[in-house]
Amino acid sequence: MELLVVKDYEEMSKKAAAIIASQVIIKPNSVLGLATGDTPLGMYKELIKRYKENEVDFSKVKTFNLDEYYGLTKDNIQSYHFYMMNNFFKFINIDSNNVNIPNGTYNDIEENCLNYERKIKESGGIDVQVLGIGVNGHIGFNEPNVNFEAQTHLVNLDEKTIKSNARFFNSIDEVPKQAISMGIKTILQSRKIILLANGEAKAEAIYNTVKGKISPEVPSSILQLHQNVTIILDESAAKLL
Ligand code: GLP
Repeated sequence: MELLVVKDYEEMSKKAAAIIASQVIIKPNSVLGLATGDTPLGMYKELIKRYKENEVDFSKVKTFNLDEYYGLTKDNIQSYHFYMMNNFFKFINIDSNNVNIPNGTYNDIEENCLNYERKIKESGGIDVQVLGIGVNGHIGFNEPNVNFEAQTHLVNLDEKTIKSNARFFNSIDEVPKQAISMGIKTILQSRKIILLANGEAKAEAIYNTVKGKISPEVPSSILQLHQNVTIILDESAAKLL
């Protein structure tokens, strides 16, 4: 694991955007794995800026998002479809046919998930996967006591995650209890992984990710075994290391 500790959120976002931009510049048809949440917002802003300055061209890039709430339609403002469209995709020249986000409304969940995995394989696999991290060490929506072998699947959200994500909803009762998420196996098959974390609330999860025992109780701990992981942290998230 490569650890980069930077001064603050802005620097973390710029570093992450630089990694993505250089990936796309050297391989214009890169396959990017993307994440949602507050953490990557600054990275998306920085990438939009680089696009507007003609530094990076997304026209041949393919994307696969990590997860989507189960039961939310694409136009629901809390859905990750809405988030991606309004925080990134609508500001860059990506081809909408190249955008992939798990569908949270299919009835045939198993077929939907298998199809997602198939599409990732057909695209040649993910070149760079961006990850945030939950306070409980979840990556994507792979919650504690995870099955490391799982691929894209339906997950039940952990109480801690529901509480933490309630800030995006009017009330905690509105937070979906399930989601479709890439599995740990899917994530680990990416050629490169960058994990971003900022703020003191993530310090314990980061400590467990980097220094803890590899265990299904801390899903992110499995990243210790990946050959090409860069963790970009602000000073607060790195506090316990
Ligand atoms: C969400 C997402 C994760 C994200 C995490 C942290 O539940 N499913 O992909 O990394 O929580 O979110 P935030 O960046 O808002 O702290």
